[in-house]
Amino acid sequence: MPRFADSLNEQIVNEFSASQQYIAIAVHYDAQTLPQLAAHFYRQAVEERNHALIIVQYLLDANEEAVVPAVEAPQTEFADVVAPVALALDQEKRVTEQIVELVKLAREEGDLVGEQFLHWFLTEQREEVASMSDLLQVVERGRANLLLVEEYMARAQVGDQGGPDAAMPPVAGGAL
Ligand SMILES: [Fe+2]
Ligand SMILES: [Fe+2]
Repeated sequence: MPRFADSLNEQIVNEFSASQQYIAIAVHYDAQTLPQLAAHFYRQAVEERNHALIIVQYLLDANEEAVVPAVEAPQTEFADVVAPVALALDQEKRVTEQIVELVKLAREEGDLVGEQFLHWFLTEQREEVASMSDLLQVVERGRANLLLVEEYMARAQVGDQGGPDAAMPPVAGGAL
């Protein structure tokens, strides 16, 4: 198996781990009856799950082995209300670096089809880092009264609203 396919399989782990972490954050907010924050992270979890299965579909199409992995337990306890969003922003920045490394690897191997496949992920990461930065600012500003954050989120479109876009590559089993 070429190294690029191995690295894509590692990225499947990263995307499913991100999904699991977002579910943990969603449940954390849900338990505190913060439905807007919870909904945001439930949505993000579905997106990350789609990302994992986009890579699975690519590997299936390329006749490479696609491994459905175990993931490590996510963080479920947080110091304060801002901490989960800060963690999420760190996670998105880390994933951006991982995608950049994958692009470099595809380029190194002269795999232009693989590189082109990853371009959508680069765009997606730019959006996700930007929208999570926005959400962090909102939560930091409203940390003393999270009901203001909730009300703001209900009115304004804060952060990534989710949903498949037209340029999204095919998702194994279909996008959720
Ligand atoms: Fe992702
Ligand atoms: Fe993401």
